Amino acid sequence: MTLQLGDTAPDFTAESTEGTIRFHDWIGDGWAVLFSHPKDFTPVCTTELGAVAKLKPEFDARRVKVLGLSVDGVADHEAWAHDIERTQGAALNFPLIADPGRRVSALYSMIHPNADDTLTVRSVFVVGPDKKIKLTLTYPASTGRNFDEILRAIDSLQLTAQHQVATPVNWRHGEDVIIVPSVTDDAARAKYPSGWRAETPYLRYVADPSASAAVAG
Ligand code: BEZ
Repeated sequence: MTLQLGDTAPDFTAESTEGTIRFHDWIGDGWAVLFSHPKDFTPVCTTELGAVAKLKPEFDARRVKVLGLSVDGVADHEAWAHDIERTQGAALNFPLIADPGRRVSALYSMIHPNADDTLTVRSVFVVGPDKKIKLTLTYPASTGRNFDEILRAIDSLQLTAQHQVATPVNWRHGEDVIIVPSVTDDAARAKYPSGWRAETPYLRYVADPSASAAVAG
């Protein structure tokens, strides 16, 4: 069955380049990104893992742990890590799950037989501190993902988990956000005493509350 937003991310225990990982314990009280790539020693995957390694400080700053996965074994992951470091200029600094038995891949429906019946597609699962799935993405093997976009989406997920707002198209942290329709104007007046900018009765913008909290704090 396909995992959907709001479902509990299936827990698992698996071997990785950083030892045995018990997924829910490993997440702890922060956030996690679990992502699959089709195969070690392949070109697009090499660029993706280098990019994630370079972005690790950005994930850390958001209290997000990253965890890669493919159907290769730990020895292959470790040998491939040398190529990633040499060609991408970044050493692997997060664990890669070894899933040769396709156990975790099956739990997360990462193998799409009509695309390829043995290799994982490029799946992404963002999991919150409550272990629920907050975002999913699926890309084919031939299309490398944009991990800056995943960070941008995490900024929105973390903001909207705390405040009754939504984020508009292409929003970035610090830009104005949207008051969700379920918040009446009366309720909004109490929350945002300095007011808001209404372009229509339902399109109401306010300053990013996390940006003002950072300034105030
Ligand atoms: C790649 O990472 O380059 C790749 C992997 C599997 C199929 C096609 C491309």
